Amino acid sequence: MSSFFEASYNNLIHRPNGRDWWHCMPLPNGNRIAGAHADCFVQLKLWENLDLLTFDLAGKRVLDVGANDGFFTIAALLAGAGKVTAINTADRPSYPENLLFACKQWNVAPEVVVDDFQAHPFESSYEVIFFLGVLYHLENIFAAAKLLHKLLNDRGRLYLETQMSLIDSPLPIYEAASDTYPTVAKQYKEHLHLTGRSNFLFPNEAAVHNLASSYDFTCERLMGVYTHHYPSRGVFRLTKLMK
Ligand SMILES: C[S@@+](CC[C@H](N)C(=O)[O-])C[C@H]1O[C@@H](n2cnc3c(N)ncnc32)[C@H](O)[C@@H]1O
Repeated sequence: MSSFFEASYNNLIHRPNGRDWWHCMPLPNGNRIAGAHADCFVQLKLWENLDLLTFDLAGKRVLDVGANDGFFTIAALLAGAGKVTAINTADRPSYPENLLFACKQWNVAPEVVVDDFQAHPFESSYEVIFFLGVLYHLENIFAAAKLLHKLLNDRGRLYLETQMSLIDSPLPIYEAASDTYPTVAKQYKEHLHLTGRSNFLFPNEAAVHNLASSYDFTCERLMGVYTHHYPSRGVFRLTKLMK
């Protein structure tokens, strides 16, 4: 097991390349780059919550949508994935600089794409897609679900992580992000001209299951330390149904 996955560190390093970091990034010397969250283990907790141990990544083709600083891209490569593609919009100014900085430390080489995944001309399909913290940044969740289904191989897996609506209903509900109303999170309307910076819709659990069913996925909610510590976040494993 690589030291990348260790739940301890020596020193917290701030902005080693002069950039702010979103991910708290492990380094091979046992230090960590400080990220945006007070909890330095938030990404490691999410990684463990994905429950990938039961689904071997070995040799798999992985797409990390909204890769940001690349924690999950690097984790997949160190866990044995065959090839990993990281994609993020240029509207994240530290991308791909931070990701490339971290990859150099870990001596891994993902394919790195700067683009909106909704518009990118992908040339291959994937066995695993990470879609972590991206759903609520999209203006069209339904078109995105259709595209992600198309990008997966038969029986391919989509790992979806999202802020949830806290409205408890057996019916599928999407709560709007708003700067006006006290909804679960703000919209940040001032960023609407960029891609992937404002918030739009937060599903409840039924809405995620319904979305999965609409686009021919099975769907399981994954519970773990991450969802225990962050109960307003949901983690789901969607599997593409064979036609
Ligand atoms: C909340 S961060 C999550 C980062 C990482 N996946 C994680 O879970 O820690 C959302 C990331 O998705 C990116 N993003 C949002 N919409 C995108 C799009 N349409 N195409 C590519 N990247 C996008 C943002 O720029 C940002 O880096």
